[in-house]
Amino acid sequence: MDFFEVNKIAGGLLLAGVVTIFIGIFGNTLVPKHDGGHGVEPREADMAAAAPAARSEPAGPEPIAGMLAEADIARGESITKKCTACHTFDEGGAAKQGPNLYNIVGADIAAREDFGYSDAMAEQEGDWTYANLNAFLHKPKKFIKGTKMTFVGLKKARDRADLIAYLRSLSASPQPLPEGGAPEPEKEGEAEPKAALPAEPDRRQAVREPAPAPETEDRLGWSFSLIGAAMAAEPAKSLAERLAAADPEAGKKVWRKCKACHTIKKGGKKRIGPNLWNIVGADVGAREGFKYSKGMLAFGGQWTYERLDAYLTKPRKVVKGGKMSFVGLKKPKDRANVIAFMRGMADEPLPLP
Ligand code: HEC
Ligand code: HEC
Repeated sequence: MDFFEVNKIAGGLLLAGVVTIFIGIFGNTLVPKHDGGHGVEPREADMAAAAPAARSEPAGPEPIAGMLAEADIARGESITKKCTACHTFDEGGAAKQGPNLYNIVGADIAAREDFGYSDAMAEQEGDWTYANLNAFLHKPKKFIKGTKMTFVGLKKARDRADLIAYLRSLSASPQPLPEGGAPEPEKEGEAEPKAALPAEPDRRQAVREPAPAPETEDRLGWSFSLIGAAMAAEPAKSLAERLAAADPEAGKKVWRKCKACHTIKKGGKKRIGPNLWNIVGADVGAREGFKYSKGMLAFGGQWTYERLDAYLTKPRKVVKGGKMSFVGLKKPKDRANVIAFMRGMADEPLPLP
């Protein structure tokens, strides 16, 4: 709660600055929809019909929000064997019988451009919130009547939680885990999820809780928490500021993660990756004797600070078709430090930005 409060306040301060991005991404969801909860209500009704509601929540799939933090992502990946006949999961993967599912958590429903959805799915409003995914993967045909996804569903809550945790990981910037404290106090369920899970209270209530106006409020909360999470992970410092404050010695420690594949001394050998002496400011993909991926060669240009920072965040996202199999450095500080270290490994270090 405190954590969220802090973020909320900080989020408010930042709001002005990010409002444009914000509107770009969430604009359509911030505008209250004329048909408000209609996208949700029929589903509640369906689910209520499926089982008697014992609690105030609509009866439906067992909620998984509280399980996500502890979910087993590797196990989730293995569950996708049930999906791979129809879906690809890699970034930029082709549509099969179903759409590609990279970065689906938090994405708009039925929004993959290269896929022809059923009318039923195309007409769905909203995003793939955790709650929506949970309900859909529990019983696809029940959650979206008329969907053409002919998959029976995953009965076990744990299977859904593990799978959704894996889906969440398939993103350059994974959605925050469900968190409590949407700007508006939760309706009737307030005490229950918080008591159940103090650290990660569930607030993905769109499906679980028939709140009167969840569409707008909930998404607003979601957006706030995105900003909050972004800020918690990434204090709003520019790359130039981060580099100015960077510590090459600390960067040398971060470099340990790179050593298995790269040397950085002058004249060092290639390993799985090229030697990186004097790489900051150098041409991309230009080390003699190293066979680069087509993706890297197509990327071209120079290793500016910005590009290095982006590449080291998510190599495969920034260099499409690249072959550096390194997950990336999530912490902006680690990236700045390692870049500062690499910068020093040159006869004439590139001036800082
Ligand atoms: C037999 C093929 C098939 C299987 C198996 C299958 N799906 Fe699907 N899936 C589809 C089709 C077809 C659609 C599009 C549905 C529509 O347009 O109504 C879809 C749509 C989806 C969507 C919505 C995507 C969007 O862009 O909004 C998600 C999420 C999804 N599937 C997840 C899964 C997961 C996770 C599994 C495995 C547990 C799975 N599917 C198994 C065929 C399948
Ligand atoms: C698992 C092996 C592996 C690890 C770990 C790894 N890299 Fe790489 N790296 C590669 C490969 C392979 C390439 C060539 C990529 C291509 O051709 O697409 C590469 C390319 C690069 C390039 C571009 C080089 C050029 O000549 O244009 C940079 C910069 C880089 N890596 C930095 C790093 C840093 C910094 C780390 C650690 C934080 C790191 N790498 C960790 C394998 C690795």
